[in-house]
Amino acid sequence: MSTTYNVTDGVAVIALDNPPVNGLGQSTRAGIVDGIAKANADAAVSAIVIIGSGKVFCGGADIREFGSPKAGAEPNLHVVIEQVEQSGKPVVAAIHGVAMGGGLELALGCHYRVVAPGAQIALPEVNIGIVPGAGGTQRLPRVLGVDAALQMITTGASVPSDKLAKAPGQKLFDRLVEGDLLAGALAFAKDVAAVRPLPSVRDLSVAAPADAEAFNKARAELAKTRRNLEAPQRCVDCVEAATKLDLNAGIAFEREVFEKLVTSDQARALRHAFFGERAASKIPDVPADTPLRKIEKVAVIGAGTMGGGITMNFLNAGIPVTILEMKQEAVDRGVGIIRKNYEAQVAKGKLSQDKLDARMALLTTTLSYDDIAQADMVIEAVFEDMGVKSQVFTQLDSVMKPGAILASNTSTLDVDKIAEVTKRPADVVGLHFFSPANVMRLLEVVRSKHTAKDVMATVMAVAKKIKKVAVVSGVCDGFIGNRMIEQYSRQAGFLLDEGCTPQQVDKAVEKWGMAMGPFRMGDLAGNDIGWAIRKRRYQEKPNMRYSATADKLCELGRFGQKTGAGWYDYEAGKREPVPSAVVEEMLVKHRESLGITPRQISDEEIVGRLILALVNEGAHILEEGIASKASDIDMVYLTGYGFPLFRGGPMLYADMLGLGKVVEQMAAYAKNPRDDASFWQPAPVLAKLAAEGKTFNNAA
Ligand code: NAI
Repeated sequence: MSTTYNVTDGVAVIALDNPPVNGLGQSTRAGIVDGIAKANADAAVSAIVIIGSGKVFCGGADIREFGSPKAGAEPNLHVVIEQVEQSGKPVVAAIHGVAMGGGLELALGCHYRVVAPGAQIALPEVNIGIVPGAGGTQRLPRVLGVDAALQMITTGASVPSDKLAKAPGQKLFDRLVEGDLLAGALAFAKDVAAVRPLPSVRDLSVAAPADAEAFNKARAELAKTRRNLEAPQRCVDCVEAATKLDLNAGIAFEREVFEKLVTSDQARALRHAFFGERAASKIPDVPADTPLRKIEKVAVIGAGTMGGGITMNFLNAGIPVTILEMKQEAVDRGVGIIRKNYEAQVAKGKLSQDKLDARMALLTTTLSYDDIAQADMVIEAVFEDMGVKSQVFTQLDSVMKPGAILASNTSTLDVDKIAEVTKRPADVVGLHFFSPANVMRLLEVVRSKHTAKDVMATVMAVAKKIKKVAVVSGVCDGFIGNRMIEQYSRQAGFLLDEGCTPQQVDKAVEKWGMAMGPFRMGDLAGNDIGWAIRKRRYQEKPNMRYSATADKLCELGRFGQKTGAGWYDYEAGKREPVPSAVVEEMLVKHRESLGITPRQISDEEIVGRLILALVNEGAHILEEGIASKASDIDMVYLTGYGFPLFRGGPMLYADMLGLGKVVEQMAAYAKNPRDDASFWQPAPVLAKLAAEGKTFNNAA
């Protein structure tokens, strides 16, 4: 059983003991029920304390049970909470560290709750596409009031216990215990042991909000901030129900909503993202107990756009950084931008001046390689040029201490070749950050054929420390993300050839859920980047066909927001895209030159071609072992490319569509003479899975 039971001084102590977070797995649930029964049967016991062993009270459901029969095995959490609530002797929850999801619901079923300061309190279920399922939406408003409960339940955000304990009128916590929690809980339990009747959250009523429109306003606001997501809306329904129904009827309502959501596509997608993020950090052939190299000092080469952002990640995590540049002006400019970024955060109240000072104090600069020789890891972010990178890595090889990790932020170059410039290729790895590097969560970790396993394990751990979602990619042109986006952009170009406007394409995929359509994205990133890549492609792959529209746009000098004009026009100083007559004229002439009569293209076709282009290229990436699992590809798209979370990433989307249907649609696209029929040949792994009726993601 994953609980322990002891009687101390007339108080029974049930300690949840299911590391790492005391998840409410079947044996923990059974242990609580047993403990309550035992304590009630023992005349020497006058009260009961439920506490967590280790660092937390309880993190909620045991995620290892998800999808297994154990998850629903008796006693389920409803039964556990019922037993606690109906105990004839008072039950006190003693909370420290974390009380989340089912853990908080369990505590709400207790007669009393005492808490240590600094515990994180949350109902995070909304983040996996469901509502709390064991009374949380009904009991939390009873103890915190509608406004605070609604905020917590619809966002899933954690709130520190001391803040909640000090909120006026709150009935969540009966005592804030500074110092030893168990001792405080035992003392409290003895104080209340004889009090009858036993108090219950069940007996509290919920005041309806003062503003009769409060719930509708919350729904409207969430429709904007949590666009397309079903669960936040249903959370509002449940809290509203708490103001109208008694507890039993409210719980029945919550249960019905829960059952509907838990089997929905959205919940499946959000669960996939939740597990995908955890799975991404595991590398099949690198054991979890691989010894890590110590990373206490970092050097960054180049203080440009990427170097500055990369540096901020480490300063934020309290890790000292030395930036090396070629000239003092470049150092000053780079450091100036870092400071300005922090100052903007201070101005918005997101960072204190003290923290700004502390972070800047961790930063040093130099023009000499000798000053970085003792760094544990160095990240190169100089110009994207093999000659320049080779020089930098040769220098690094000659000065860096043995065992230092040498990383490159290259977005297109061959990391195997960069490694081979040095005499220590096993220490070299690609760390492909995304711009702005201090904001974007994605980090592609590029594993060269030389990279040592402990280097991989170490950089994955470092990525976690700087709060990135790290996904491992093999070496190939564009790695996972950019290699796929190239096919997506190529389709977007063909759609222009055939009759679409940039705004039509952008609107269609944005309505479908993408954060930004391909043309707005091009204008933001700079259309010249794609232009340079295509020029290289025309040499390397002369048979690969592209629409000439993007080249024509660049020939007009329309590189995007940075030149004030791209696929769209931009008013001076504004980022709002305005449909462009110049582009429209260019497209008309372009179609005329090819003898194309433009046709009406449906949103369905636009979305289908763009997204399935990602899917087929993703399948090739999987086939070649560039990504080790489909969920890694999904994580790249969810965290780095604005792919809608509620669709779970391109590969899960294909799974949900059905791979048979995917292959069928591709065959239809292949018949379009304006498209590239050879691209639409399904990758062998896709064809095979489709034929076998299988999916990319086994566990989805
Ligand atoms: P950038 O042009 O803004 O900055 C490069 C910096 O490196 C400049 O400050 C330059 O003075 C310095 N530098 C050049 N040669 C040097 C040398 N030998 N020693 C020391 N410093 C040197 O370029 P950006 O955009 O920051 O790109 C850097 C790298 O990051 C490139 O490899 C690029 O492909 C990659 N990258 C860029 C992304 C982007 O969105 N800009 C995204 C992901 C990767």
